[in-house]
Amino acid sequence: MKAVEMLGIRKIYPDGVVALRGVDFEVEEGEIHGLLGENGAGKTTLMRILYGEIHATDGEIKVFGRRVRFRSPRDAIRHGIAMIYQHFSLVPTMSVLDNLYLSMSAVNPGVSRDDTEERAEKLIAETGLRIPLGKTVEELPVGVQQRVEILKALIRDARILILDEPTSVLTPLEVEELFTSLRRLRDKGITIILITHKLREAKAITDRVTVLRRGSKVGTVKTSEASEQQLARMMVARDVELVIEKPPSRGPGREVLRIEDIWVKGGEGVDALRGVSLVVREGEILGIAGVQGNGQTELCETIAGLRKPYKGRILLDSRDVTWLDTKERYRLGIAYIPESRKIGLIHDMSVLENSILTSIDEYTGRLGIVNWKKAKEKAVEVIKEYGVQPPNPDTPVKFLSGGNQQKLMVGREIARKPRILVVAEPTQGVDVASTEFIRKRLLELRNQGIGILLVSTDLDEIFQLSDRVAVMYEGRIMGEGRVEEFTPEKIGLLMGGVNA
Ligand SMILES: Nc1ncnc2c1ncn2[C@@H]1O[C@H](COP(=O)(O)OP(=O)(O)OP(=O)(O)O)[C@@H](O)[C@H]1O
Ligand SMILES: [Mg+2]
Repeated sequence: MKAVEMLGIRKIYPDGVVALRGVDFEVEEGEIHGLLGENGAGKTTLMRILYGEIHATDGEIKVFGRRVRFRSPRDAIRHGIAMIYQHFSLVPTMSVLDNLYLSMSAVNPGVSRDDTEERAEKLIAETGLRIPLGKTVEELPVGVQQRVEILKALIRDARILILDEPTSVLTPLEVEELFTSLRRLRDKGITIILITHKLREAKAITDRVTVLRRGSKVGTVKTSEASEQQLARMMVARDVELVIEKPPSRGPGREVLRIEDIWVKGGEGVDALRGVSLVVREGEILGIAGVQGNGQTELCETIAGLRKPYKGRILLDSRDVTWLDTKERYRLGIAYIPESRKIGLIHDMSVLENSILTSIDEYTGRLGIVNWKKAKEKAVEVIKEYGVQPPNPDTPVKFLSGGNQQKLMVGREIARKPRILVVAEPTQGVDVASTEFIRKRLLELRNQGIGILLVSTDLDEIFQLSDRVAVMYEGRIMGEGRVEEFTPEKIGLLMGGVNA
């Protein structure tokens, strides 16, 4: 039985962007189906159409053999479809159970809180999703919140689950747990559609894969019959280097950044950084590994000047910058690419405006008038170099796909030729070809003598790019050394707070 049949789906957005050009997409009941494709290929658009959130310009949809026409997600939910986003739709201050109850009563007003609890417990037992029903949502790690979203879907009798890049916010252990649960759900007959950029994950978990390229379907293949290389080729229509050759560094030069015994308070008065000391030299990449939430964000923000330490010093080229504000630090050569596009970009502004956001002074004349002609040249350069789609500087950033937003932000900061680049998760949500491109650019910068502090939860990235590695755990550096001194296992232990 086919769970989903989408036939001849076309989508032209109101601003004229053709996102899908007649796509046929079929999913069997009870399979895990991967949806792959470069940034902007149309994956999210296709799934939002299936979920009734947006409407196709053309085409036909059948769910379990029946022709459907969804006006909104409510209709889709009624047909057993659920979509789980990276940004969850839970009420943070309420308990898990109350969240489930709230969402249950929205579709079935007669349901009681006790019924909800009973059903939830039964589903937890059946699926192995570990979820504390009594806890408040905001206390839970992201991985658990994601499980709550899945449970919320199941409790409303979802038969088809759509997950859009679900692993990008998870730690390696949480990914394993998610996959175990997804396999169990599949074995119970639930159909799962998984959007991902990670070929290794697609290989590990899916039964079949469909690849989209620029709004058209390239093909659907059985996962067991395609190698990672073949999938990559289908996506970009050329050979991609899955492993980048790291050019020998010219040897670390002078010290650019020195952090001495930094202590910083995080939320709720708890110390987020507890005596961190680090040095980054010219022409080297220092990789910071660690499970998300162990102080990496606070470290980056402290260097960028967005947070103030209550103890310790920060030196840039031997100059104490601890008390300088962000703008002054930027002028002295610090660039920061945050992990969240939400804070790095202003979504209602255009690509053009966003591409000069952090270097506005360079484009502003003595009378405070922005030189838009010059700014446009810069924007066009970034768009060209990083292949930002669509290549129009006047497009509002909110119309760009997730990966294209990331490319824009990375391109903008790298183009500033800083002394030190602080960069967090530069390739999160970025497709294979652009990942390769961004990583190569970072290595080029390093070889031009720029110091790079790279925060990444992706161990492949850490190993491919770093000259030295430091592992963070609960606001401290658990271990540090040259990359050759580490194995993934050793980093894994340090990440978990175990001294290797
Ligand atoms: N709301 C919108 N308005 C106008 N254009 C849009 C909108 N949403 C997406 N697009 C455009 O449609 C195309 C497909 O975008 P979509 O988000 O479906 O890609 P994707 O395959 O999910 O990419 P990514 O891997 O980067 O998430 C892109 O060119 C994008 O810029
Ligand atoms: Mg997407």
